[in-house]
Amino acid sequence: MTRSASTRELIDKFGRRVDYIRLSVTDRCDFRCVYCMTEDMKFLPRKEILSLEELYQVARAFTELGVRKIRLTGGEPMVRTDVMSLIEKLGALPGLDELLLTTNGAQLDKFAQPLKAAGVNRINISIDSLDAERFKRISRVGKLDRVLAGIDAAILAGFDRIRLNSVIMRGYNEDEVLALTDFAVARGIDIAFIEEMPLGEASDHNREETTCSNAWVRQIIESKYELIQSAEKTAGPSRYARIAGQTSRVGFISPVTHNFCEDCNRVRVTVEGRLLLCLGNEHSVDLRSILRDPTQGYEELQQAIIASMAIKPERHFFYDKDHVQPVRLMNMTGG
Ligand code: 5AD
Ligand code: SF4
Repeated sequence: MTRSASTRELIDKFGRRVDYIRLSVTDRCDFRCVYCMTEDMKFLPRKEILSLEELYQVARAFTELGVRKIRLTGGEPMVRTDVMSLIEKLGALPGLDELLLTTNGAQLDKFAQPLKAAGVNRINISIDSLDAERFKRISRVGKLDRVLAGIDAAILAGFDRIRLNSVIMRGYNEDEVLALTDFAVARGIDIAFIEEMPLGEASDHNREETTCSNAWVRQIIESKYELIQSAEKTAGPSRYARIAGQTSRVGFISPVTHNFCEDCNRVRVTVEGRLLLCLGNEHSVDLRSILRDPTQGYEELQQAIIASMAIKPERHFFYDKDHVQPVRLMNMTGG
């Protein structure tokens, strides 16, 4: 069967073309960051999560429908057993321009080179503090020195770009904005500041007291660096500024204070095979039931993905306290 491009594209009711998926490969993680998980997280039983083969089928279906970028997320992608075998297959998918990874960095000293060799183009590494004690308080169990070693290994491996992700929270790390920026500048890598999103109940703080707006973060950076706003965008919702005289860029991801929905080009697939049409809404399609139904096949999988475009919501309502927010935590959403 020949497939004409025009009928096989993913375009939603608002004319937005979806060419980017965020694919969660596990809900598990070796950290328990306070904004992402509760302390005593229960994880999904194995039979409920997509197998590596099922994840591959989903990725293949999307790339044949015009998806050009895949970001692997979690949980922490690198804790999934044998995840490298999936990443190698994804790296070889025809039609894929970019394979991206978001990681906590704890295992990158071991995996940075194999990831680069498998075709991962860019990598985001989460780091919220440069102080070992505090790093532990935020991640509950993480070790800062593992992540620092991971960042060094990623730089050595030679990815197209490396970006640090920092969530700034009052009472945790709000005085480290400049230290984190300096750290990125010294290494010539990018850094993005992410406003904490109201996803699920984070157990040990009240988000209204901790959330720092990116406008505030930006002012602090501008006390030291000259930021040159750039029109340049990558696949995601970040707005980037260049730092005068430096190679590093600073990104601001402001889901709470800035609605970035109008040019949304992405959807998420949870590790349970739930296709989430929007980070801030519950609209979803169960791809796992199709994958596991012996009477349905690859064509039905693609048809379900195409049909999902009709229910992609126009926007999220994170800044609207009266709107019902999703109960999913980030590790169930896919960073
Ligand atoms: N709000 C904002 N960022 C979050 N992350 C995880 N949970 C939240 C949240 N509730 C971030 C992590 C990581 C990225 C994948 O998502 O810090 O950098
Ligand atoms: Fe793990 Fe990332 Fe969630 Fe932290 S934010 S617990 S590193 S998945």
